[in-house]
Amino acid sequence: MIDADVPPLADGAAPPSSRDGLSHRDFSRLAAIIETHAGIRMPPTKRTMVEGRLRRRLRRLDLPDLNAYCRHVLDGDGLESELVDLIDAVTTNKTDFFREIDHFRYLMGTAIPALSRLPHHPGRDRPLKIWSAACSTGAEPYTVAMLLLEQERAGMPIRHEIIATDICTEALAAARLGVYPAEMARMVPEPFASRYLMRSRDPDDPTVRLVPRVRQSVRFGRLNVMEPAYPVPTDMDVIFFRNILIYFDKTTQKKVLEKLCGHLRPGGCLFVGHSETITNMDLPLKQAGSAIFIRS
Ligand SMILES: C[S@@+](CC[C@H](N)C(=O)[O-])C[C@H]1O[C@@H](n2cnc3c(N)ncnc32)[C@H](O)[C@@H]1O
Repeated sequence: MIDADVPPLADGAAPPSSRDGLSHRDFSRLAAIIETHAGIRMPPTKRTMVEGRLRRRLRRLDLPDLNAYCRHVLDGDGLESELVDLIDAVTTNKTDFFREIDHFRYLMGTAIPALSRLPHHPGRDRPLKIWSAACSTGAEPYTVAMLLLEQERAGMPIRHEIIATDICTEALAAARLGVYPAEMARMVPEPFASRYLMRSRDPDDPTVRLVPRVRQSVRFGRLNVMEPAYPVPTDMDVIFFRNILIYFDKTTQKKVLEKLCGHLRPGGCLFVGHSETITNMDLPLKQAGSAIFIRS
């Protein structure tokens, strides 16, 4: 048998499997913790992925195998101290600069001009407030920051505040650092790349770093959108919530989107991922484009 799916021992602990894998029962218990805490669905098809990622935790915790990990987290007193790292380990942080570029065209060409016609002229009389609510390693909010810096260079400055949050502490640490692999830099078009990316002087180091002005334009913080309340202003002009809904079930999607709507001013703009559907959820939103919604 490759993966022992054995009944639990008397004390609730499953014996180690013949390979270093997770028993069905341990995987189900971890999946329930992850889904309850972070909303992220963990169907059985994710077991191999979870095993691979949790193996990286073993060395850090000085544990011999995944069974020892499960006993520590599920049957011992390790869950409280491990929860943040467990969630870090199972999040998918794929992101890119200028990802789903139509959204950025809409932001600059349609959403911001429309918002600037609202009372108190957001962008001039008060800052335009933008929130990237699942920002991963920062490419999304930094793309917005670069676009707004370009606007300033063109002599049409827009006062703004960009906040960016995510549940994953490792992604947030990378975001604050603002250092990216060369493949990601390739997604930054000219003239943004030459103005806002610094190449390493070391020819063997293929990473790039965002210039300080871009890094300083975004305020990062940890926020789990499953929390009952968000410590974020309730008058955001723009919220990016892209490529995260796919990890949630419908009930969680609706609950989280309702809370996000409570942080978006009437006339404000919500972007979700192009592959994410949020129709038939009875939300106070009107569709304005592909994966673009306006708060009614
Ligand atoms: C695939 S990335 C999307 C990044 C970016 N929005 C984009 O579209 O490129 C999904 C992000 O959602 C975050 N995430 C997952 N569950 C979360 C939760 N409950 N609260 C906040 N962030 C969460 C993950 O950590 C991950 O960084």
